[in-house]
Amino acid sequence: MTTPESKLDIDKIASLCKRRGFIFQSSEIYGGLASTWDYGPLGVELKRNIKDSWWNKMVWERDDMVGLDSAILMHPDTWEASGHVESFTDPLVECTDCNKRFREDHLIVPNVCPDTDCSGPLSSPRMFHLMFKTHMGPVEESASVVYLRPETAQGIFVNFNNVITSSRKKLPFGIAQIGKAFRNEITTGNFIFRTREFEMMEIEYFVNPGEDEVIHQQWLNDCLEWFYSLGISESNLRIREHSQDELSHYSKATYDIEYNFPWGWGEVQGIANRTDFDLKAHEAKSGEKLTYFDENTKSHITPYVIEPSIGVDRTFMTIISDAYTEETIESSNGKSETRILLKLAPSIAPVKVAVLPLSRNERLIPTAKKIYDLIRKSPFITGHVQFDDAQSIGRRYRRQDEIGTPLCVTVDFDTLDDNAVTIRERDSMKQNRIPIDNLVTIISEKLSIQ
Ligand code: GAP
Repeated sequence: MTTPESKLDIDKIASLCKRRGFIFQSSEIYGGLASTWDYGPLGVELKRNIKDSWWNKMVWERDDMVGLDSAILMHPDTWEASGHVESFTDPLVECTDCNKRFREDHLIVPNVCPDTDCSGPLSSPRMFHLMFKTHMGPVEESASVVYLRPETAQGIFVNFNNVITSSRKKLPFGIAQIGKAFRNEITTGNFIFRTREFEMMEIEYFVNPGEDEVIHQQWLNDCLEWFYSLGISESNLRIREHSQDELSHYSKATYDIEYNFPWGWGEVQGIANRTDFDLKAHEAKSGEKLTYFDENTKSHITPYVIEPSIGVDRTFMTIISDAYTEETIESSNGKSETRILLKLAPSIAPVKVAVLPLSRNERLIPTAKKIYDLIRKSPFITGHVQFDDAQSIGRRYRRQDEIGTPLCVTVDFDTLDDNAVTIRERDSMKQNRIPIDNLVTIISEKLSIQ
């Protein structure tokens, strides 16, 4: 029997992530580096599944998309043209008592230090530049300055002609890219929510001017649908339109998809109408024509751009916050205990199936290993399959629940006689006896419908 589930705070999520090998603090043996994180064995699987799911939905399932993987370091003129050198800043204020720094636009009470132990007066704001600077080559001089890209988008704009010429795409069409970005954020925090190094999944979707507003709405819907397809609860998602005074320098209109995190609502994705700002800006700076030839009107046009842009790490945070569940269950001895589980959609779960021999008995292990090979080598089951024979079966079920494994296959002594195994489902904990002959079919069905 289970009692209603409750959601818990970010410290519990961070602790599970460390305990089970999803996320570790970067350079931990040296005391760590503030707000930088490393993804462990299960974290890389989940992150990879997120990126694959996004690419599948946004690129492969459509016929109007192509991909790109541009370099992190770009010609410094890129950032002059894009407006980042001039405008990519945040207002920084410093507490005159405790010397901590904050973003002025994030303050709830103006001019007062938000640290409750302090509440001192704040300095007047100064604009702080967010791009990381470094030098290319052996000489550290102003001529060798390059930036770590703060968004992947500019790599797409500067390759506009290359992609059009090589892929012969017609408007409307889009270019997708997944890659690292860097921002020297004034304040970071909430685990992996705001960091200085993160990964982005961006689309620049080129449209005929005049069709931009309708297509902007379509992208908003498509992006929401992707979240729903990952099982994220609809009541924890909302859309927020940017007010005129918060729009980025390139945007005509922007919608954020926000998630109700343990600490409150926060942006997961921005979907902006960048108009023809970027193509025109790069055309002016580089002297290269960045237009599209319309065969119907026999004229060159500068397309407008709709940009769905989302952080991989923030999506990870969203998924894990939504999936984290604690429930009180009655155990077989009548006592109640807390079960922690990640209710992850099977498509993104880091481990799809765990094969668990009831014990390490030498008669059981070879049979269990054969079943393990049968499942993980099956072309019908894609993803990671784990073999786990350490500790009691109850503890192994708990371990698999905590990492979100949708199905466990238990091999017991009866298996040796009846050629059947027990399948246990993560969310309901229901157990069914299945003949090994039907195992692969049943697992692949359960993974695709759960
Ligand atoms: N090219 C558009 C662009 O960069 P943005 O709203 O600044 O737009 C897009 O960023 C997404 O990137 C955000 O919605 C968020 O998911 C992610 N993101 C931005 N800054 C981040 C940070 N410091 N840490 C983690 N993710 C971040």
